[in-house]
Amino acid sequence: MTTATPSTCIIGAGSTGIAVAKALNERGITFDCFELGDRVGGNWVFRNKNGVSASYRSLHINTSRERMEFSDFPMPKSYPDFPRHDHIAEYFDDYVERFGFRDDITFGVGVEHVAAVGDGGFEVRTTDGLSRIYGVVVVANGHHWDPRWPEPAFPGSADFKGEQMHSHLYEDERQLRDRDVVVLGMGNSAMDIAVDASYHAKSTILAARRGAHIVPKYIFGRPMDRESPVNKLPMRIRMPLMQRLLMSQVGKMSDYGLPEPDHKLGHAHPTVSGRILDRLAHGAITVKPNIASLAGETVKFVDGSEAHADFVVYCTGYKISFPFFDPGFISVRDNELPLYRSMFHPEVRNLFFPGLIQPLGAIMPIAERQGGLIGEALLGRYALPPRAQMERDIDRKRAQMRKRYVASKRHTIQVDFEVYMRELANEFEQGRKRAESPGRAVSAFA
Ligand SMILES: Cc1cc2nc3c(=O)[nH]c(=O)nc-3n(C[C@H](O)[C@H](O)[C@H](O)COP(=O)(O)OP(=O)(O)OC[C@H]3O[C@@H](n4cnc5c(N)ncnc54)[C@H](O)[C@@H]3O)c2cc1C
Ligand SMILES: NC(=O)c1ccc[n+]([C@@H]2O[C@H](COP(=O)([O-])OP(=O)(O)OC[C@H]3O[C@@H](n4cnc5c(N)ncnc54)[C@H](OP(=O)(O)O)[C@@H]3O)[C@@H](O)[C@H]2O)c1
Repeated sequence: MTTATPSTCIIGAGSTGIAVAKALNERGITFDCFELGDRVGGNWVFRNKNGVSASYRSLHINTSRERMEFSDFPMPKSYPDFPRHDHIAEYFDDYVERFGFRDDITFGVGVEHVAAVGDGGFEVRTTDGLSRIYGVVVVANGHHWDPRWPEPAFPGSADFKGEQMHSHLYEDERQLRDRDVVVLGMGNSAMDIAVDASYHAKSTILAARRGAHIVPKYIFGRPMDRESPVNKLPMRIRMPLMQRLLMSQVGKMSDYGLPEPDHKLGHAHPTVSGRILDRLAHGAITVKPNIASLAGETVKFVDGSEAHADFVVYCTGYKISFPFFDPGFISVRDNELPLYRSMFHPEVRNLFFPGLIQPLGAIMPIAERQGGLIGEALLGRYALPPRAQMERDIDRKRAQMRKRYVASKRHTIQVDFEVYMRELANEFEQGRKRAESPGRAVSAFA
């Protein structure tokens, strides 16, 4: 079945792109999906031909499989609780096979340029040299591929004699072998790479400008993020409870030689690791504060101490980037793009941004729900509120995020999994009523 909906282009067939594609496909909405790589799964494809996957050989998910799987396609029970990247990539591939929309994805073709044309449509130019006109563009190009290097660069970094690399280019332990390695950061990339280095490098230093509450993968023998009645509690009650639980199970971060976090649990993106504390306890990793400067093959830290290093790995996060938009059209400022419900552009209403979130939880079930909302919008069964209402909501959310989270460019798209999932369900209802009200002034794409 096909419907008279606007023609739709989906950019990217990572887990977000395929979640939206599936939602459109099951509603009978046709679309073109362009994918730079030669298979689906984006970040989860190790050595992806798209050239931008952040995956490394030792990467496992840190959100458990039940938390991450799509609602109508469970991961195989034979999978462990925290599968490796290749299991996850295979799971996404099976999803596309099961729901039968692989032929709607054009592989090996990227979207180069998107420009608004005529009466609200878009001209989309692709790397195969073709340009096509679409009524709707779904942006699902991912937000973990454009490396954020330390800003500004550390003094002396231009003349440093050792190698400096961003974690995005980390592949496997061969890069670390027999080297004096400094890993900078306290996010999940830093944890994994420091652990790998602790087994393969000559020496490993973990340097950070602030501490983090390191959450283990298991508590009481169950994945930490598994469904539980506690998850239904408001965050202001849930987080202090979790913090007490962490203290009783793990102890203080300073017990492991780490800096104590300068914030409460839930006020920074979670750092999850089942292995780093063990490696610290074994003395396999030395902890330092932030880097102050580099010179020759020496790294100086802000406490005045120095260490020999021939390899510095900056695990300093990622930028949100849309290289196919002209800056005057859509631009990201300070890693932020103001979006209603974290996915709708208040001015360009036929441009959707699913997956542009950092949940305390997994992205995939959220992208699935966002896909449903996009599908309903395309069928005219969901309508957006007026622009002023969207902008008020965006401002309110932004203020809440700023108040709660540590000031850092990594905290511009944070959402709480359960809260945001509920918000999307409510939004669906409200948008349905708006769409059904006889004299509605605003369509999803007006
Ligand atoms: C190391 C690492 C580990 C992570 N671990 C977890 C985890 O355990 N759990 C979790 O929930 N999240 C995790 N994340 C977050 C990660 O962003 C999501 O898991 C997931 O990859 C998001 O899917 P996506 O489709 O939005 O983006 P991506 O997976 O990045 O997919 C984007 C797709 O778009 C394609 N594309 C990009 N630009 C274009 C273009 N111009 N034209 C055509 N195609 C294009 C790419 O080739 C890619 O296939 C992790 C991130 C990193 C970096
Ligand atoms: N499945 C997994 O196990 C896994 C593995 C890796 C990554 N991931 C996911 O991938 C995403 C990116 O993670 P990430 O760890 O690469 O990045 P990230 O979460 O953005 O963390 C970046 C780290 O670098 C620090 N930093 C940034 N700029 C700095 C500077 N100039 N000087 C010193 N420190 C600086 C940040 O400190 P501040 O907090 O002070 O800004 C933070 O500790 C996250 O969603 C993460 O969960 C998951």
